[in-house]
Amino acid sequence: MKNGEAGFVVVFLISLWGLALSSSSSSYSSSSSPWDFYDQSRWNPPGSSPMASSSMLLNRVGSSIVLPIHGNVYPIGAYNLTLLIGQPPKPYFLDPDTGSDLTWLQCDAPCVKCTEAPHPLYQPNNDLVICRDPICASLQPGDYRCESPQQCDYEVEYADGGSSLGVLVKDVFSLRLSSGIQLSPRLALGCGYDQLPGSSHPFLDGVLGLGRGKSSLTSQLSSQGLVRNVVGHCISSRGGGYLFFGDDLYDASRITWSSMPRESKHYSPGVAELLFAGKPTGVKNMFILLDSGSSYTYLSSQAYQDFAFFVKKDLMGKPFKEALDDPTLPLCWKGRRPYKNTRDVKKYFKPFALNFASGAKFKTRFEIPPESYLIISSKGNVCLGVLNGTEAGLQNYNIVGDISMQDKMVIYDNERQMIGWAPASCDRIPKSKAFLS
Ligand SMILES: *[C@@H]1O[C@H](CO)[C@@H](O)[C@H](O)[C@H]1NC(C)=O
Ligand SMILES: *[C@@H]1O[C@H](CO)[C@@H](O)[C@H](O)[C@H]1NC(C)=O
Repeated sequence: MKNGEAGFVVVFLISLWGLALSSSSSSYSSSSSPWDFYDQSRWNPPGSSPMASSSMLLNRVGSSIVLPIHGNVYPIGAYNLTLLIGQPPKPYFLDPDTGSDLTWLQCDAPCVKCTEAPHPLYQPNNDLVICRDPICASLQPGDYRCESPQQCDYEVEYADGGSSLGVLVKDVFSLRLSSGIQLSPRLALGCGYDQLPGSSHPFLDGVLGLGRGKSSLTSQLSSQGLVRNVVGHCISSRGGGYLFFGDDLYDASRITWSSMPRESKHYSPGVAELLFAGKPTGVKNMFILLDSGSSYTYLSSQAYQDFAFFVKKDLMGKPFKEALDDPTLPLCWKGRRPYKNTRDVKKYFKPFALNFASGAKFKTRFEIPPESYLIISSKGNVCLGVLNGTEAGLQNYNIVGDISMQDKMVIYDNERQMIGWAPASCDRIPKSKAFLS
């Protein structure tokens, strides 16, 4: 995810400059290496921290990891959370992205091109992921060649034009289960030494990849048996919220579930039809992705056109006129007075919804009330937070971004290949399953 833009990712192998990243000496201590490696003696063997065995963890209440999220859709246009990585652990602000897999940090390898970041660059250790590692393979095209077998080069590109290029390392992540047990798994992450900022790049240290692929933090935590392969988030329309790994924060019977199409590389609740004010609009067969890396929601051209038409038609006779002088978003309206909060205007707008055909009998609905598709600009105008995805280069994908996932718990269940949601109050981190409204 890259602030304000859809963040699903294209990954491919780069054999970049043959840069001396593949220092041929196995110690990686050659002075010609661009790597500024830490002394190996600093390493503690993995598992030396006081942690319970994984089989014990999974069957217990409290076996989730919950992390507070900071940010909002507008004016910040980004979300971030703090992870402690390395030995000793250092804090980094990361963009939680369910639209991409790889977690990476701006990295002193040394850095060829890094953007300004809130913390000092990550100092990589010498624990390289090898080229044949399945995690490396998952980030490469099917027929990739290992020109430097001892390392894994990666490049990720985001839909907003941003990218990161680097090499995979393993390092210790300091995480705490809700039961209080401290975990220190060694996980693969990208040491990104060459970044291109996208059209809107937040002031952050890197990206937290939460997608369906093997390299995502979700997959890695679950393959080590630490939590179940489930990730979710709850972001509040008041700003902030939380992210969680594991499945014991919610009661699955109170969640609306939709199956993920097997063939989708990204999190998708499937194909939907568009409803406006509870009625079918005639827009059907929309392939939907949920992407926490996107601040706004994007509909492909035809769906966008129809949706904008319905919103505008519904505003006729109401005290709003288009604010052509407001550059915040493509469509803004001026009301009788400047507004402060979407709650002030929600009575003038209708909800819309995505109706998923899940099985022959059930219709699964994702409701989007006005507060989840409108923002109030700094000028006090109301703006449409649903944008033309075709214009943003997203082709026929329809991307439900943070704005439309506010005040819901959204669950990406990779164990059962289901996506779930339920209305929730996201202002406070839940202590138990009893929090759902
Ligand atoms: C990231 O979160 C921290 C609080 O944990 C906050 O101080 C910082 O401003 C946030 N950065 C961005 C770009 O939102
Ligand atoms: C959406 O963007 C596409 C590509 O730029 C453009 O052709 C189309 O007219 C736009 N649709 C609307 C309704 O603005």
